[in-house]
Amino acid sequence: MSDIAGGDKIKKVVRQTYGGIAGRVLRRTAEASCCGPAPSPCCCGPSEATAALADIARIYTTDELAGLPESVTSAALGCGNPVALAELKPGEVVLDLGSGGGIDCFLAAQKVGPQGRVIGVDMTPEMILLAQRNAKKVGATNVEFRYGEMENIPLPDESVDVIISNCVINLSLDKDAVFREAYRVLRPGGRMSISDIVLYGELPPAIRERPDAWAACVAGALQESEYVDKMRAAGFERIEVLSRDFVEPDSVIASVRIKAYKPGPGNSCT
Ligand SMILES: C[S@@+](CC[C@H](N)C(=O)[O-])C[C@H]1O[C@@H](n2cnc3c(N)ncnc32)[C@H](O)[C@@H]1O
Repeated sequence: MSDIAGGDKIKKVVRQTYGGIAGRVLRRTAEASCCGPAPSPCCCGPSEATAALADIARIYTTDELAGLPESVTSAALGCGNPVALAELKPGEVVLDLGSGGGIDCFLAAQKVGPQGRVIGVDMTPEMILLAQRNAKKVGATNVEFRYGEMENIPLPDESVDVIISNCVINLSLDKDAVFREAYRVLRPGGRMSISDIVLYGELPPAIRERPDAWAACVAGALQESEYVDKMRAAGFERIEVLSRDFVEPDSVIASVRIKAYKPGPGNSCT
């Protein structure tokens, strides 16, 4: 299999995986759906939603989760809380790379308020549909969701103040392009707040080569040093790894929180 064919296969599996998850949440939570008040076999039962809630309660505070519908919380697939570290201010424009069902966009929207704006970009059509339905349910009028790829962000140069991303960049086949594009759309002095999966050692080759392990946010993960080097090569400064959570004590896999700045007024190192 050539690299291009391998890359196409991985992208297809990533899209199918997240399209499948979004489809299940859409079916389970749609009004007048086949699930109705009593789940039927054509939808996934309540256990999936319950398990998802238990997971995200470790990531988000009770206050953050209060008031969010199940179609938002059960589609939360992140590995951290990038909004919590982004220090968002009223009026700022925020971009979420790989916005999924929209949870971080809705949290960011509360922080930037009606004068601010949040744009979620995702390459899976079902996720965009779910996020748009969720925006209506939540009543978020300062959030929009756009179909697109983070390697080719559908936004003009220097048009956003802050980029957030939650467990997505590891999925990209071209992380240099992601950081180059992130840098392009950020205004000078803008910042990036990321949660993502990185490695501190080698994965077995059998795992590295499996598209499903890529879609599970493992096989595409970079070593932390390589990840930071790519951000620096794109032009980011003051790159800081704020915390690391290993999936198990002896694991080489961890979720990390990273903050970085585009040089500009008030924050350039030069
Ligand atoms: C693990 S989920 C995380 C979703 C969301 N950030 C959250 O925390 O719930 C990964 C998301 O990234 C999207 N995605 C994967 N690769 C992408 C790419 N190259 N460009 C845009 N979105 C992508 C998937 O469609 C999926 O919705």
